[in-house]
Amino acid sequence: MKIKVGIVGCGVVGTGTAKLLLENRDIIRKKTGIDFQLVKVADLNWNKKREYEIPQGIRTTNYKEVLENCDVVVELVGGLDFAKKLILEALEKGKHVVTANKHLLAMDGETLFTQAQKRNLRIGFEASVGGGIPVVKALREGLVGNHIKALYGILNGTTNYILTRMLEGGLSFEKALKEAKEKGYAEADPSLDIGGWDAAHKINILASLAFGKFFPFKEVYVEGIENINRLDVELGRELGYTVKLLAIAKKVNSEVEIRVHPTFIHSEEALAKVDGVYNAVMIEGDFVGKTMFYGKGAGSHPTASAVVSDIVETGKYILCNKGGEIYPVSWEKEEISLRKNFFSRYYLRFDVPDKPGVLASISRVLADFNISIAAVLQKEKVCQLAGKRNEPVIPLVILTHKAYEKDIQKALSKIKNLSVVIGEPVLIRVEEEQD
Ligand code: HSE
Repeated sequence: MKIKVGIVGCGVVGTGTAKLLLENRDIIRKKTGIDFQLVKVADLNWNKKREYEIPQGIRTTNYKEVLENCDVVVELVGGLDFAKKLILEALEKGKHVVTANKHLLAMDGETLFTQAQKRNLRIGFEASVGGGIPVVKALREGLVGNHIKALYGILNGTTNYILTRMLEGGLSFEKALKEAKEKGYAEADPSLDIGGWDAAHKINILASLAFGKFFPFKEVYVEGIENINRLDVELGRELGYTVKLLAIAKKVNSEVEIRVHPTFIHSEEALAKVDGVYNAVMIEGDFVGKTMFYGKGAGSHPTASAVVSDIVETGKYILCNKGGEIYPVSWEKEEISLRKNFFSRYYLRFDVPDKPGVLASISRVLADFNISIAAVLQKEKVCQLAGKRNEPVIPLVILTHKAYEKDIQKALSKIKNLSVVIGEPVLIRVEEEQD
């Protein structure tokens, strides 16, 4: 059996996908019995330099040629409007779709998957999350028998690369970002990486698969790594923690928390050891317990590997015509709401003068909000000079036991108005393995 494949968008991932399909066509045919033939690649600009020369005979500048000539349409254009139009047009023509477009799926997945489901067509999206790691397949197949309790992911290679290079390589934020861009990890607009948005798109997609409905993306809590400071990284390390941009989706009764923010995790935990451009996802199911998936989360070849796995999956779906496709929409009929009042441990840093009553006045406010202190770390080393008299200021760190986000925010707004607290307090959430 032959399946005709076409790609729209020949950038970094498109080129890698074309290369893989052409170079590994035989091995895929031997393994699956299906011959996947790349018949068209559409891009508006054939003059730019690519890592691999796409054969002249299959190039086009007209995406409609892909729609006309292929069984599977691979959308690798990225962005929102045109990509959505292309996918809907492909579905209308009865074509299966493969996409790596996490931004579009996180914002509009419900519309697209509903259309695909109506027509018994597939939208493959393995490459949208975790680059080369088959985590979508794991949720759909390997873990299908479980109620998923929680997902914890390092889902953005660029920010993980930056945090690692800043920590271990002593690089500045700018230099580390430049390196990540040169290696092809960062998005066209790197603020999507740095601001936590890319990881949030990905965790929203995984949450929809895990919990059976799409949650409105605007409700997801997102905080990036822009304000991560070396001082907190060092103080956290002294307390036994490593900072990561963690994407979290967990179910508590009929509520789900979906959030992305810099997070301290125990330095001994497996996720803390995931460095550089590597991604990892920890998934906990009620029967399987904890499972962990690890691999390269960005870059041309790992992402191409995931795109091709979807093309093959789609070929098998066409061949067997057996249905059973799990769409990440609307299989859960129960009401599930998004919880905003997180329940977590918190690392709080205040810059304060070293004088009597400072700790007492801050801990008084925490006590008023029923927030219990787990550990305190104060340094004698002056971190800044403040006020007209250039008064020395030192960092005071308070690690709390689990508390409600609302109480922490209320307490912080009171504490920052205390005359002894200089500047904005720092808040970094802390996740414990047993959470
Ligand atoms: N910009 C993304 C990352 C690429 O850094 O992980 C893969 O989605």
